[in-house]
Amino acid sequence: AVTRTFSIIKPDATRRNLTGAVTKMLEDAGLRVIASKRIQMTKEQAEGFYAVHKERPFFGDLVAFMTSGPVVVQALAGEDAVLRNRTIMGATNPADADDGTIRKTFAESIEANTVHGSDSDENAKIEIDFFFDENEIVG
Ligand code: CMP
Repeated sequence: AVTRTFSIIKPDATRRNLTGAVTKMLEDAGLRVIASKRIQMTKEQAEGFYAVHKERPFFGDLVAFMTSGPVVVQALAGEDAVLRNRTIMGATNPADADDGTIRKTFAESIEANTVHGSDSDENAKIEIDFFFDENEIVG
């Protein structure tokens, strides 16, 4: 079925002017950008978005990184969008990512790993709703 997922092009990618290159890989993988905006995340937004990780040792660094520059938040649609996006992203740690994936191609480190993608349909809806009103999404 055609479903939705949520993606963030992270500060390491916007800094290197890779928004288009990353988006092209998403599109070539069969995903369609149905909403997109470039924002500077506030500390409060980053802490809220990543609240599930707040007890992790890397939480402070993660929030600092995600607020260190512009990000592009996107809602994506496609056949089995969550899995499709996770496949083209590759493993969280670029050292473990398969050839041809976004993270293998572009990521600098496990933290500066170019993209975020939802890990389930349930979280995709929560994450899309965190950044977009339904009237900003055009399928
Ligand atoms: P993301 O999919 O955005 O979700 C949480 C992020 O935390 C993850 O991508 C990584 O960028 C980051 N992360 C996960 N594990 C670590 C780690 N061990 N050290 C630093 N950052 C991490």
